[in-house]
Amino acid sequence: MASTRTPAKHFAPLAIGAPEPYRALPVKLERMIHFIPPHNDKIRAKIKEIASQVDVILGNLEDAVPLDQKENARKGFIEMLTQNDFGTTGVWTRINCLNSPWVLDDVTEIVAAAGNKLDVIMLPKVEGPWDIHYLDQLLAQVEARHGVKKPILIHAILETAEGVNNVEAIAAASPRIHGMSLGPADLAASRGMKTTRVGGGHPDYGVLADAAKDAGAVRNFYQQDLWHYTVGKMVDACLAYGLKPFYGPFGDFSDGAACEAQFRNAYLQGCLGAWSLHPSQIDIAKRVFSPDVAEVKFAKRILDAMPDGTGAVMIDGKMQDDATWKQAKVIVDLARLVATKDPERAAEFGL
Ligand code: GLV
Ligand code: MG
Repeated sequence: MASTRTPAKHFAPLAIGAPEPYRALPVKLERMIHFIPPHNDKIRAKIKEIASQVDVILGNLEDAVPLDQKENARKGFIEMLTQNDFGTTGVWTRINCLNSPWVLDDVTEIVAAAGNKLDVIMLPKVEGPWDIHYLDQLLAQVEARHGVKKPILIHAILETAEGVNNVEAIAAASPRIHGMSLGPADLAASRGMKTTRVGGGHPDYGVLADAAKDAGAVRNFYQQDLWHYTVGKMVDACLAYGLKPFYGPFGDFSDGAACEAQFRNAYLQGCLGAWSLHPSQIDIAKRVFSPDVAEVKFAKRILDAMPDGTGAVMIDGKMQDDATWKQAKVIVDLARLVATKDPERAAEFGL
């Protein structure tokens, strides 16, 4: 039995009156998805200022919200949406997971009150395409009911062993999917990893250099990236379906250098952004997920040297061909996107 709809039906709205699904994702800069607790009055009072500093602002309703604040978080998020205009900053929420008692009200109340202001719903603990199909259908019904004009996208958190197993089917499940984030904390628990951290490395996960011939010589130990395999798998699933992959949270706010290293590995592997859970991580994400100025300049030279993207040229002793032209285009396109929101970097790129 086919697990996806036929090509003819793939882009049909799932409810009469719901907006048409996108055929290609809107082009948006999303270097960081900045999490805020919407039940916190002090944070809500500063929301305009916070939103002006980030690419995406996300009202978190799931984990980290205490049980007795679940309703207040949802109300606070709705208030935040109805009382503010966020301009070009993306507006997302992380709803509670599908087996929770709060999720139905999260979706129906938020879309009813402010569906036209919501860009993306982040869905936690996605296990397989069935989770996406359910939310897809529900969103279409609620969008139709409340006259929502553009489709609200779904961003899946990859944070269970079953979800990782089904990552490609999740990517293929609906044109409503925006992308995915790695959820290293829940994933570690689901897999039975022996860690107590929210993302990042572990000092004991690594390789020991071979023993040297000369006995007694020091054998170096090289720490490895615990998340390399999962990020690679997620990036391939996302890019194969035209979706956006993201690294998720980094919980040790006291270690900016380690956060930066983890974000950078994800960036180099293909991710477009990461979560910022603390204000200090906003600048880290801007630094990491904006292309390096020297790389932009070099990439621009490749594009200029190969105007139609074919053939082979040498630049500074390095061979360039169609494949490096395409890599260069990824970097220059990203630089142009960053330049639309970040005048300082725009000047440095000199595009
Ligand atoms: C995020 O939700 C995580 O579990 O890492
Ligand atoms: Mg989680």
